[in-house]
Formats: sequence, structure tokens, C-alpha cells
Amino acid sequence: MGWMLSSLLLLTILCGNAPRTKQNDSTCYNYDYDYVDFVSRTTSANESVVAFKVNSLNGTCPTGAIPPTFDNQNATGHLYVNDYPPYWPYHTDYTIYATLTGWKISYKMNYSCNGNFNGLLIHPDDRMVCLKIYRNSNTGSFTYNEAATSCESADNALLAAPLYPEDLKKFSELGEVQRNKTANRNIYARIDGIRTKACQSTPRTPYCMSPKGFTFLSSVPTFEHYNWVTNSSAMATANDNCLVLVFNGNNAVKVDVKSCEGNFNPLPAQLFFCSSPAWVYKVWDYD
Ligand SMILES: *[C@@H]1O[C@H](CO)[C@@H](O)[C@H](O)[C@H]1NC(C)=O
Ligand SMILES: *[C@@H]1O[C@H](CO)[C@@H](O)[C@H](O)[C@H]1NC(C)=O
Ligand SMILES: *[C@@H]1O[C@H](CO)[C@@H](O)[C@H](O)[C@H]1NC(C)=O
Ligand SMILES: *[C@@H]1O[C@H](CO)[C@@H](O)[C@H](O)[C@H]1NC(C)=O
Ligand SMILES: *[C@@H]1O[C@H](CO)[C@@H](O)[C@H](O)[C@H]1NC(C)=O
Ligand SMILES: *[C@@H]1O[C@H](CO)[C@@H](O)[C@H](O)[C@H]1NC(C)=O
Ligand SMILES: *[C@@H]1O[C@H](CO)[C@@H](O)[C@H](O)[C@H]1NC(C)=O
Repeated sequence: MGWMLSSLLLLTILCGNAPRTKQNDSTCYNYDYDYVDFVSRTTSANESVVAFKVNSLNGTCPTGAIPPTFDNQNATGHLYVNDYPPYWPYHTDYTIYATLTGWKISYKMNYSCNGNFNGLLIHPDDRMVCLKIYRNSNTGSFTYNEAATSCESADNALLAAPLYPEDLKKFSELGEVQRNKTANRNIYARIDGIRTKACQSTPRTPYCMSPKGFTFLSSVPTFEHYNWVTNSSAMATANDNCLVLVFNGNNAVKVDVKSCEGNFNPLPAQLFFCSSPAWVYKVWDYD
């Protein structure tokens, strides 16, 4: 059983050539667990002080030789770091252990999303979803198949679905940044959902207007939060069977059913969104 270290402050290292009688004049540096690889054990001749802040869970000070490992017990701790873009929240478990000449810090990094992603959705049930947006750099359109295949091959992800109102807000924000870089600001962004073959001939029945009328790569149990241009039966041309987000002028972003192909109908499909559940990535071990 090791000691739980403070989750806020891991190491405080006091440095500088402070005379032993005036240690208050020395400068105090805080180091993050992932910055300090090894802390040498020194003597007073080295005129530096290393302090490890320890949280005692039961209010008593640990006993034993040489803190923070006290008779060679491993000091362990856990941090949840709510990191921000371009990084993502992560969990880290760390261990400080004694060696003959000092202390070594090892830690595991468990990231919610990897560096490929552009956004993070946090659902009301605390489920997290990593989000990526792709932009076409010429004037063409992504077909539904190109978008779906790219999500899978590049990110092991699926076309994304804006299930909750806050999702649509995040999709809008990410799309807003990208549409300024596309040939035309008025564009479609592909998302998950393609009308089933059977419903292509009867798009207006209640069944076909429900999520059951569409095939999703992910899971879309409800259209409750889909803000439609008209409604889910929309089918202006025979090819209009794929769900898209419409970025048009300064209008709020809405969902429509538009061509699955690469033709302009009437706007080009210049963006698509991919998503993957968070916390499925490799945990990195550092020692
Ligand atoms: C160091 O600072 C503490 C708290 O400010 C003070 O009580 C103590 O007397 C100081 N020690 C020296 C050597 O100046
Ligand atoms: C500490 O002081 C000793 C004796 O002067 C020296 O050999 C050693 O390299 C110093 N260690 C560090 C980490 O500065
Ligand atoms: C507090 O916890 C430490 C480490 O688990 C243990 O050695 C010590 O006996 C405990 N003290 C009390 C008063 O429970
Ligand atoms: C202390 O931690 C080190 C590094 O993680 C590990 O190799 C060692 O087995 C641990 N020792 C104990 C007693 O848990
Ligand atoms: C990483 O963190 C997630 C979220 O807390 C957890 O569900 C998962 O088990 C962790 N993975 C590992 C390998 O610890
Ligand atoms: C995009 O461009 C418009 C007008 O050209 C500007 O008002 C807006 O701030 C830009 N948005 C972003 C996210 O760059
Ligand atoms: C769905 O929208 C179409 C126009 O696209 C309209 O004609 C139809 O009445 C609407 N159906 C429902 C159930 O709102």
C-alpha cells in the first residue's frame, strides 16, 4: 500500500544556492509529474531541497525512512486532467518509487481522444465522443460513401450524428470555422444516416420519417433534437436520401435529406463529421 499524493500538487522542488539558514529566499518551482523523470537524492551539501506533497488519507503522517516513499513503499496517485483543445481530457495513474540514488516517476496516460480529433462531445449522461471534421479543399462534393469510408479508414470512426442539442452546437462551431476555408461558404456537411431502400418509395409514412426509415452506422434512436429544414421526409430529387447539415448564410444549422452522390444539390457537400467513442485509445506507459 503506498501513499496517496496530492492530486493538485505532485512535487515541489526548492532550488537555488540558498544558505541553509535562509531557505525562505530560495525559489520554489512546481513540476508536473510528466516533466520530472528522475529526482536525485542529494545531501545538504547540494543546497537544494526537494519536497513531495503527500495527502494523508487518515490524517496521520506516514512514518518510515526517506519520504515520499517511506521505507520503499510506492507513492501512488491519480489525476484527471480536464485538458482543452487541441488536447483532450485524460486520466493518469502515477507511481513514485525509490531507487538507490533517488526517485523515479512512472505514469500511465489514458487519453479520451487521440490527436487526430478536432472536438469532444460530452453528453448529458457523461458519455464522451471524439469528433473530427473533414473539409474538401477544391470545389467538389464528398459522396456519402467517400465520407463513411474515410471516417473508418483514417480514424477508425463512423460518420457522426448530432444526437443532443449541445452536439449540434459543437458541429455548428466546428463547421463554422471550416466553411470560411471552402470554395463556397454555403455547403452541406455529411453526417450519419441514409434512407433505407424500402423507404425511398414511401418517405412520408410515419415509419419512414422515424429513425427506422434510415440506416445509421452509429445509433440514432430519436430525431427529437434534429432541427430539420422541413422534416425527415424531404426528398426533392430521387437521390435525396442522405442526411446532411446545412450551413447556409447566417441561418442556424439545420438537418436536411440531400443527395448521397457527389453532384451539387444545390449546395456542395464539402464537409463531413466523423465520431468515435472516447476512452478507447491505447494507454501509454512511461517509466
Ligand atoms: C520562513 O518563512 C516562515 C513563514 O513566512 C517564517 O515563519 C520563518 O521565520 C522564515 N524563516 C526564515 C529563516 O526566514
Ligand atoms: C551533490 O554534491 C556532491 C558533493 O559535492 C556532488 O558529488 C554531486 O554531484 C551533487 N549532486 C547533484 C545532483 O548536484
Ligand atoms: C493511517 O494509514 C497508514 C497507511 O495506510 C497506516 O500505516 C496507519 O496505521 C494509519 N493510522 C491510523 C491512525 O489509522
Ligand atoms: C513500485 O513501482 C514500480 C514502478 O511502477 C514497480 O516496478 C514496483 O513493482 C512497485 N513496487 C511495489 C512494492 O509495488
Ligand atoms: C481509461 O479511462 C476510461 C474512462 O474513465 C476507463 O473507462 C478505462 O477503463 C480506462 N482505461 C484503462 C486501460 O485504464
Ligand atoms: C468567417 O467569415 C465571416 C465573414 O467572412 C466572419 O464574420 C466570421 O467571423 C468567420 N468565422 C470564423 C470562425 O472564422
Ligand atoms: C414534411 O415536409 C414537406 C415539405 O418538404 C411537407 O409537404 C409535409 O407536409 C411535411 N410533413 C409533415 C408530416 O410535417
